[in-house]
Formats: sequence, structure tokens, C-alpha cells
Amino acid sequence: MDACGCDDFASIFDRRTAEKDRDRYRRKGPDRTTRMLLDLIGRHPRAGTTLLDIGGGVGVVDRELLRSGVGHAVLVDASRAYLDVARQEARRENLLDRLEMVDGDFVRRAAEIDRADIVTLDRVVCCYADAGSLVSLSAAKANHVYGLVLPRDRWIIRIGLGMLPYAHPNALVDGYAAAQGLHPTAEATTFWWRVVVYGRDDAAAARSVG
Ligand SMILES: C[S@@+](CC[C@H](N)C(=O)[O-])C[C@H]1O[C@@H](n2cnc3c(N)ncnc32)[C@H](O)[C@@H]1O
Repeated sequence: MDACGCDDFASIFDRRTAEKDRDRYRRKGPDRTTRMLLDLIGRHPRAGTTLLDIGGGVGVVDRELLRSGVGHAVLVDASRAYLDVARQEARRENLLDRLEMVDGDFVRRAAEIDRADIVTLDRVVCCYADAGSLVSLSAAKANHVYGLVLPRDRWIIRIGLGMLPYAHPNALVDGYAAAQGLHPTAEATTFWWRVVVYGRDDAAAARSVG
């Protein structure tokens, strides 16, 4: 493992996987749960807002939201291969001037990263052992909307842990978000996944704006 702890991600989320994700998105658009996340976020006004997409992979959430009103996005990912593909695709779609890439483990780089109106982690918390740090630090960056795609709390998912390295209990994740003033406002599920969007209560929102 390298100094930033990202070698594990580089070997799992390599160039080949990134190109497969790129090609699937070009053929079919966002995956089902990503579409669900975008739909839930879409209920909130977003003209000119900012996005922080953590573990954004090839940048599907970023590109979709930049095309529908978000003004500026920051994509953080621990896999350089994914960031390279995300950069190429953003350039191809003329979005690169509004998309910033940050290379590395978000938990380690959190202090250098600005808050954003919308923060997303699409199928990322289940890749990271320290859910407490990842969720707490990322939730603290969300001015208004915090969106997650998480494996559901189901026994069959725990049996399938080979595919999902860390199925952190959903109540624990909600607790970390609540400690940052965020509570679920909308959610949807598939057999495997829970898609959840959190918002700030009024008092917390007033503190966070500006
Ligand atoms: C399963 S992929 C999901 C990619 C994309 N969000 C999607 O849904 O298609 C997980 C991604 O999260 C990244 N990742 C996981 N933990 C991270 C962390 N702590 N900081 C930055 N990136 C992280 C991995 O490198 C990988 O690209």
C-alpha cells in the first residue's frame, strides 16, 4: 500500500474497469441506482449550485448534474485511472472548465476541500472500512443536500460481502449524518441498494450557508 493508502483502490478500480464503466454509460446512460439518486436530488433547485462528488468514478453524477444546472463540480477519487477517464469524458462533453478533479483518499484530503451545496457518494461508503470518518467528514461538507447509495441491511447482502467489501449498517450511517445536522428527506430502494438523500434542518442550514 502507498503512503496515501490508495493502492488498494488503484488495483480494484483500474483502467480496464474504468473503461468498462465509461462504455456502459455511453451505451445506456446512468446505472439504475445512479438514476434514482439523480431523480431524488432533482427535486431540489440546483441552478448555479455546487457539487462535491466523492468516489465519483468516471464522473457520471458530475456530468449529469453539470448538464442540468449545477455550476461547478469537484470530483474526488482515489483511483487515478478513473480520474483519467473522467477527465477525457468531461473534455469530450465540453464540461472540463466546470469540473475539478482531486486525486486521493477524501478522508485524508478533506481539510483541503471546500463545502458544496450538494455532496454525493454513489456506491462509495461500501468500499471504505472507516465509514465513520468518510460519512462524518463528507456530510460536514454538504450545505444543503447529501446523497448516498448504500447496500441495504439485508442478510443476503451480508452473505454477498465478497462483492461489497463493507456493508456498514444503515442506522450507523444515518447516525453519522445526523451528527452533522442531516436527516433523510427522500429515499428509494432496489433489492440490493438504498438510495437516500438527506437535508439540513432549518437551524443547521442557516448555520451552514455562507
Ligand atoms: C464502486 S466505485 C463507484 C463509482 C461511481 N460513484 C459509480 O457509482 O459509478 C467506488 C469509487 O469510490 C472510490 N473511493 C472509495 N473510497 C474513496 C475515498 N475514501 N476517497 C476517494 N475515493 C474513494 C474508488 O476509487 C472508486 O472509484
